[in-house]
Amino acid sequence: MTPGMSPGIDLEHGGNLPAASRRFNIPIDQWMDLSTGISPWSWPVPALPQHVWQTLPYADEQLETAAADYYACDRAALLAVPGSQYALQYTPALLRTGTVAMPRRGYAEHRAAWQRAGHHIVEYADGEALRHLVETGAVDHALVINPNNPTGEVVAAQRLHLLHERLRERDGWLVVDEAFADVTPGISLASRCPAHGLIVYRSAGKFFGLAGLRLGFMLAPRSLLEQLHAAMPPWLLSHPARWIGAVALSDEAWQAQQRASLTRDAEQWLRDLRAAVPALAFTGTSLFVSGVGDAAYCEALYQSLGRRAVLVRLFESIEGQRILRFGLPLPETRGLVLHLLREAVEECR
Ligand SMILES: Cc1ncc(COP(=O)(O)O)c(C=O)c1O
Repeated sequence: MTPGMSPGIDLEHGGNLPAASRRFNIPIDQWMDLSTGISPWSWPVPALPQHVWQTLPYADEQLETAAADYYACDRAALLAVPGSQYALQYTPALLRTGTVAMPRRGYAEHRAAWQRAGHHIVEYADGEALRHLVETGAVDHALVINPNNPTGEVVAAQRLHLLHERLRERDGWLVVDEAFADVTPGISLASRCPAHGLIVYRSAGKFFGLAGLRLGFMLAPRSLLEQLHAAMPPWLLSHPARWIGAVALSDEAWQAQQRASLTRDAEQWLRDLRAAVPALAFTGTSLFVSGVGDAAYCEALYQSLGRRAVLVRLFESIEGQRILRFGLPLPETRGLVLHLLREAVEECR
């Protein structure tokens, strides 16, 4: 735990096969895990030179330089952290306590972190409602998850620029979580960093398929990065993570291929899901597809898929609606997943 900061609440997350295995009494190795937005293809980690394991992780600039190039931002705007979770968990405590606009549905760790830090939360349903909150001065800060997980909603960069200007005028912050933005750099505000009143979180876990590496970045003005850094224990980020991150972030050929594969497969997956589950309204991103519908139906389909050892992510009920989020299957398993899905849909009729 970071000194002087409170611990996290234990929230539910995707990818928890041990819990699913206990819940459905099916061994871990028999599951098809579609419960995360982590790419099914990972950047291919090579055997690491022995010295990488021997070296203590001091900032040697290789990772930071590669990340600044990759995110097209100023080197001074960037701090490497052990997953964007680290930054989003501890940053709200560094900001002036106030009222923050937050998506009604979104990665739940944000809400927990802002609440723990004593901020008052005002929910917004969509980008238009957010604009209204900011324009009318109803909030000091705004959090945008872009694209949103799990709704898939995207707020255009142009609109975010305007929100940033308004909030900055009042000494507030626009905080943008871009954990899922790698395939759509056009929506990113990273290249504007550092800018007063703007924070961007990035993750090496989703697009690079390296969630277990625990590597992410916070892009923000220097003074804020220094505060976060000062609270971090020494060597928090392992040297293997720094080394792998530097090479992966520089591998432009792999990144181009990954973008093409994810775009192609995600579009196909969206078409497949729309055809297989007509009772849900689907929205696609490049890393997951989410279907919203009747809460009882979503719950039944989740259970039915679970009994078939297919793990998806079920989100809480809001006004009688739940979301089922489907991560991308590997193309070679897509046929089998669709077969099991059609069986489950049939069972839930
Ligand atoms: C929207 C969003 N942001 C951030 C994170 C944290 O990811 P990581 O700490 O692996 O970078 C997650 C994890 O699922 C997420 O869904």
